[in-house]
Amino acid sequence: MTSNAQPQPSAAVPGQRPPAPWQRMANGGGLLDPAGRLRSTVFEEMTALARRTGSVNLGQGFPDFAPPREMVDAAAAALGAGHHQYAPIVGIPALREAIATHQRACYGQELDPDGQIAVCAGATEGVTAALLSLLRPGDEVVLFEPRYDLYGAVVEFAGATAVPVPLLPPAFVPDPDDVRAAFSPRTRAVVLNDPHNPTGTVASRELKELLVELAAEHDAVIVTDEVYEHLRYDGPHEPLATLPDAAERTLTVSSAGKTFSATGWRVGWVSGPRDLVQGVVAVKTYLSHSAAAPLQHAVAEALAFPREFFDGMLADYRERRDVLVAGLGEAGLTPPTPQGTFFAVADVSDHYALAGVDDAAGLAQHWAQTAGVVGIPVSAFASPANQGLYADWLRLAFCKRTEVLRAAMAGLAAAV
Ligand SMILES: Cc1ncc(COP(=O)(O)O)c(C=O)c1O
Repeated sequence: MTSNAQPQPSAAVPGQRPPAPWQRMANGGGLLDPAGRLRSTVFEEMTALARRTGSVNLGQGFPDFAPPREMVDAAAAALGAGHHQYAPIVGIPALREAIATHQRACYGQELDPDGQIAVCAGATEGVTAALLSLLRPGDEVVLFEPRYDLYGAVVEFAGATAVPVPLLPPAFVPDPDDVRAAFSPRTRAVVLNDPHNPTGTVASRELKELLVELAAEHDAVIVTDEVYEHLRYDGPHEPLATLPDAAERTLTVSSAGKTFSATGWRVGWVSGPRDLVQGVVAVKTYLSHSAAAPLQHAVAEALAFPREFFDGMLADYRERRDVLVAGLGEAGLTPPTPQGTFFAVADVSDHYALAGVDDAAGLAQHWAQTAGVVGIPVSAFASPANQGLYADWLRLAFCKRTEVLRAAMAGLAAAV
């Protein structure tokens, strides 16, 4: 099976043109085959496998249930009210104000909606614009692995170099010495994803403090991807930007996609100090220009939902998480209980002998055939140097209806 995370930095071959920018980008995201052609992602491959085998697809991270009715109604009303033309590049005022109010109410953070918040086409554009606004060729970016593929893609596209720091299983915590060693005079940025996809872990206070300290020492910017901020099971989310001395050098990215079960809406945002947000705005002007106008109105309303909405959503996700973790337990696995996100990871090595395979990628194929369940090997989220660390780990998404999860776990228990 091909992996999603990929090869060596795309190097120039003597006598040949250097790789095109798109090839650098594809390479950084793990989408380039050895002949330099674009290949499918591991997510597409596993989705196709799920379809072929009639399996439950716990590979891809999107909900199989509807967004909140009130938010959908608000979108319909916004369409009816005639919001069809370009929105402002930075986002409609109502949404920027709603984001500022949300950050204050949830985290005590003060942000000026005029200048400290930019609405983007999903967190994807937010992270992309943040990194492109900062990186010069030759810069280094500290990235924790396993990681969401976007970060490596943008870093390489910008001509910068990703410096990977492994999150060490089974706790998926980095060695602080590795974190320190990853910073150099060339470090321009560090990306933290908290809560973390794919491992379902949450960054410790100590790690966040260390990043603030190292970023200050090296005059680097911290980009925090907090799209799972409302999926925290064991305590409130603490944005890195709220730590002492962090706000001045941190760009925080989030999105409506996960919180409101609407990954297709493509409404996200970036917040931070004015000088850094200005850079994000400059870049996103020439990416999407602006996110979908009517949907911005609806997300502004959704962000103002009462506390009970967020608590109820979390309670539903906790139930889904517990169904998955209990089901994996019945299948003889001992996954760490996810502290955040809608992903669980499990060391599946005890099942190799029975299945006649020797890694999680092989077991994923086997389970699709025998158990009707598809997951994603965690090695697909790592660069080649670190793939071996995660060879025994499989990621399973629990953003699915509980009956779907129960059926999947029953299939797994029967098969093993
Ligand atoms: C860690 C992380 N960041 C960003 C994104 C993309 O978010 P959006 O759909 O808002 O672009 C995802 C989606 O899976 C994600 O898991």
